[in-house]
Amino acid sequence: MSKEKTTNIKRIAVYTSGGDAPGMNAAIRAVVRTAAFHDLHIYGIRRGYEGMIKGDIMRLETKMVGNIIHRGGTILKTARSMEFMTPEGRSLAYENLMAHDIDALVAIGGNGTFTGANIFQKEYNIPVIGVPGTIDNDLYGTDNTIGFDTAVNTAIEAMDRIRDTADSHNRLFFVEVMGRHAGFIALNAGIGSGSAKIFCPETDITIEALINSLKKGSRRKKLFSLVIVAEGNKSGGAQQIADVIKEKFPHYDTRVSIIGHLQRGGSPNAADRVLASQMGYYAVEGLLAGKSGVMAGIVNNKVRYTVFKDAINKVKPLDNEMVKMAEILAR
Ligand code: F6P
Repeated sequence: MSKEKTTNIKRIAVYTSGGDAPGMNAAIRAVVRTAAFHDLHIYGIRRGYEGMIKGDIMRLETKMVGNIIHRGGTILKTARSMEFMTPEGRSLAYENLMAHDIDALVAIGGNGTFTGANIFQKEYNIPVIGVPGTIDNDLYGTDNTIGFDTAVNTAIEAMDRIRDTADSHNRLFFVEVMGRHAGFIALNAGIGSGSAKIFCPETDITIEALINSLKKGSRRKKLFSLVIVAEGNKSGGAQQIADVIKEKFPHYDTRVSIIGHLQRGGSPNAADRVLASQMGYYAVEGLLAGKSGVMAGIVNNKVRYTVFKDAINKVKPLDNEMVKMAEILAR
């Protein structure tokens, strides 16, 4: 296997930042193992930008990432840091990196992580490559983000359990899933769980449309239903929609279930372990090839490097054909 390098990068640091996602450990492992293959020194920064500012930086050896590929969460911990959005915070962070002679960074995280990384790499001319680690799948330039597929499976498992009790009691359940301002988890978990309606921030499914489909359903003696709602839905979350239905149709026995942080935990599934391994690998290979200020992504099974500005700002649309199909299959 070739070890070609076009840069003289010798020490890289990896960190996880923002909401954790199943698969982050697999990505950390891949970064460390790929760096070791190229005889680089690898450091771990704990708690993302918080740790960079506080100097919480430690050497990572290849054996330290043994037996973590299957573990949820992140061994480096994570945090959201407002201080890093200040020049003073970034200056302290840079001093700490220089104190360890770190000359490149791998940032594992989401929008906020890459926003900070983009400013930092321009301000201090330090190479940074991003690995999209967020369950929201709301980053342009990659088909899936690390943790998304596992989160969808977790949401579907929860919906299957809710379906049992909804069926037993002939209840109308409103289930809220994560995704911040995106509806990827809701759309995929809604299709996979056979939801009667799927409310996403990106679509214009209305409460009236839900009422019509409930009426149609009761005409064919459909005695219970599941409705999935993305937390960023414009006409409100699961509780708000349930309240409207309860008011209009008091005869419906409604309940609300907010799945919440369950979607962030758990062992990464096969897809996320493979995706995380690919992205950790390509992040280090990209740094050694002289790339910086980009996010490593997988599009149609091929690696693609997207500049942070686009990864953060370009809208990643829901698949309209999937939205249309979901409506048809739920009739
Ligand atoms: O970005 C991942 C995410 O889980 C979002 O889906 C959710 O809105 C947010 O993080 C929750 O943030 P916190 O973990 O800080 O409550």
